[in-house]
Amino acid sequence: MSEKEPVELAICMGSSCFSRGNKRNIKLIKDYVEHHRLGDKVALKGHLCEGLCKDGPNITFDGSVFNAVDADFLELLLDQQLKPQE
Ligand code: FES
Repeated sequence: MSEKEPVELAICMGSSCFSRGNKRNIKLIKDYVEHHRLGDKVALKGHLCEGLCKDGPNITFDGSVFNAVDADFLELLLDQQLKPQE
């Protein structure tokens, strides 16, 4: 069985997304990755504003943008996208 590529997780660090939730979301993601020992399965990066501020905070998983990512939605996304298969 081949190793999967790491999931690319891109967090908007623009001022709107950052102040409306991504500041906290970064910590939640780091805690989740650490708790589940997923450091080698996730490529975490930040990017500048992409003009989608009114829909933010925005987070992109492998090129798919998710909007209005609050703590509950983020946990759901992380479970869907990253949780190890049993
Ligand atoms: S600050 Fe995130 S899209 Fe503008």
